[in-house]
Amino acid sequence: MENNIRNFCIIAHIDHGKSTMADRFLELTGTVSPDKLKPQMLDRMPLERERGITIKLTPVTMNYKLNNQDYILNLIDTPGHVDFSYEVSRSLAAVEGAILLIDASQGIQAQTLANLYFANEQNLKIISVINKIDLPSADIERTKAEVGSLLKIKEDEIILASAKRGDGVKEILARVISDVPAPGGEKSKDLRGLIFDSIFDEYRGVIIFVRLIDGCVKRGDKIKMLSNGKVATVLEVGIFKPDLTPNKELSAGLIGYIATDLKEINDCRVGDTITTIEGKDIKPLPGYRDIKPMVYASLYPKEGNEAGRLRLALERLKLNDASLIFEPEHSPVLGFGFRAGFLGLLHLDVVKERIKREYNLELVITAPSVVYKIKNKNSPDEFFIYSPLELPDPSIIEHIKEPWVKLDIIVPVGYLGAIMELANNFRGNFISLDYLFGHNAIKEESQRAILHYEAPLAMLLVDFYDKLKSASAGYASLSYEFFEFRPAQVVKLDIFVAEEKVESLATIVYEDTVQQVGRRIAETLKEVLPRQMFEVKIQAAVGGKIIASERISAMRKDVTAKLYGGDITRKMKLLDKQKKRKKEMLKSAKVDIPPEAYLAVLRKK
Ligand code: GTP
Repeated sequence: MENNIRNFCIIAHIDHGKSTMADRFLELTGTVSPDKLKPQMLDRMPLERERGITIKLTPVTMNYKLNNQDYILNLIDTPGHVDFSYEVSRSLAAVEGAILLIDASQGIQAQTLANLYFANEQNLKIISVINKIDLPSADIERTKAEVGSLLKIKEDEIILASAKRGDGVKEILARVISDVPAPGGEKSKDLRGLIFDSIFDEYRGVIIFVRLIDGCVKRGDKIKMLSNGKVATVLEVGIFKPDLTPNKELSAGLIGYIATDLKEINDCRVGDTITTIEGKDIKPLPGYRDIKPMVYASLYPKEGNEAGRLRLALERLKLNDASLIFEPEHSPVLGFGFRAGFLGLLHLDVVKERIKREYNLELVITAPSVVYKIKNKNSPDEFFIYSPLELPDPSIIEHIKEPWVKLDIIVPVGYLGAIMELANNFRGNFISLDYLFGHNAIKEESQRAILHYEAPLAMLLVDFYDKLKSASAGYASLSYEFFEFRPAQVVKLDIFVAEEKVESLATIVYEDTVQQVGRRIAETLKEVLPRQMFEVKIQAAVGGKIIASERISAMRKDVTAKLYGGDITRKMKLLDKQKKRKKEMLKSAKVDIPPEAYLAVLRKK
């Protein structure tokens, strides 16, 4: 039976039509009846459907008959955005083949390349498909030339398709069956399975999404997590149709789910190997790269007393989102919250939205910053800091390093100059330039190139992406991958309000921009802080040296308003009294910084 199984996924740049193509597969194989089929059926989260993006990988099992043979086709739909490439890498570890989908009107884009590299690393069989050939703007010849050149294949091996109209869909499934190798593995061997995802079910416990390599598992069995030795009882096994559908058993080669009685979310680690308790000398399966979040931000509940609920929400989300990490934190202004790590800004945004929708919690989120690696003079080891507050005193620091990424930008050559200038302004180092193969008939200006750069990740967190889009009239696409930590000339910028240091407003900034940033923060605070009865000094300082300052003048109360006539001595007396009172007030002056002011500063960063 194993010979009749094919496990594959669809990879593509964002919006090139993966989920729509998956709809056509569901339709053709009769997995979902036509009256139940909704567009982008495999985007199951409301947030995915609303934004039209795939966030989570989604598996589905389809039965298909070809030339009188029955096949089990296991498809994993993957997200396209760079922030979710860890989902892609997990899907790839669970399959033997990948359909590489390219939009005929857009051609190869940055994430097409990034995902193709991932798939090649896993030695997957690639089936290339040009999608959206129905579009009037489709440039099939050029896209064929690009794909042929990139994959080093003949142009007639590329399937032309329209996920919208249904062209090429049968041909793609036939090619999956003929070209993607059937999974190896044996049912009679000890159980071995790769956990590629998991969810938490209120009533049952942890539900593991698994690709079985060897063996067989059924209800009532005991399974063991190889990394931590935790044992769970199997409550149910089944497959994705795409809803969870119980089965008698799951055996080697298949993709399915195992509902367990595990109640501790942390007991199940995505990427781990499962086996039986008797299983001896079972080696862990090569999981996939452990991805370390490099972007950090603090999350606080809008209502001060909801930190407990926020912790629960984060724990549950983590089960479904292995890359999310968090630690408790306290801010004098915002109360109890969490410092959390993300793979990028879209990831942060999605977590925020999911917490709001799925857990009904409104959040206040501070400006994201990157992780830094520090070495102190008196210590042999380097360590990470996740927040400016953790930065040691400059006098004891030997060096500070920041994360750098390798950046690929695909852009029509007509925009090369503008994009290179932009990358330079964002501290990028140019590495090389390649041209994507173009069709002879096209104009020079629209021929496309890949720019390879290295850049500090911190620069991408500002507004690089928006600027890239506007500098290329929307044509440029971007993908990046962390590669190393490099020395950074950065300092901690402290903010004082009414002579008092406001810890939660401290930031880490490049030394050569500190003056500019300090001035901007002081100006913003001047705009947003409420006036007091006394004058408030706002200062930005580095290592105790003031580099920018502003003043908010005192609110003036006309204490002489009630006086009639011209009794000058009485007037002077009143003003004198007011002056004395203000002086007294200033001694104990303390300005409460409202959360809105705090966020206004961080946003303007
Ligand atoms: P992400 O998962 O967010 O990366 O997107 P995706 O690759 O799953 O793309 P999706 O299927 O959501 O399609 C993106 C848009 O392209 C949708 O508006 C689809 O209706 C449209 N689309 C997909 N395939 C075709 C096609 O063959 N022709 C045309 N004209 N439109 C298509």
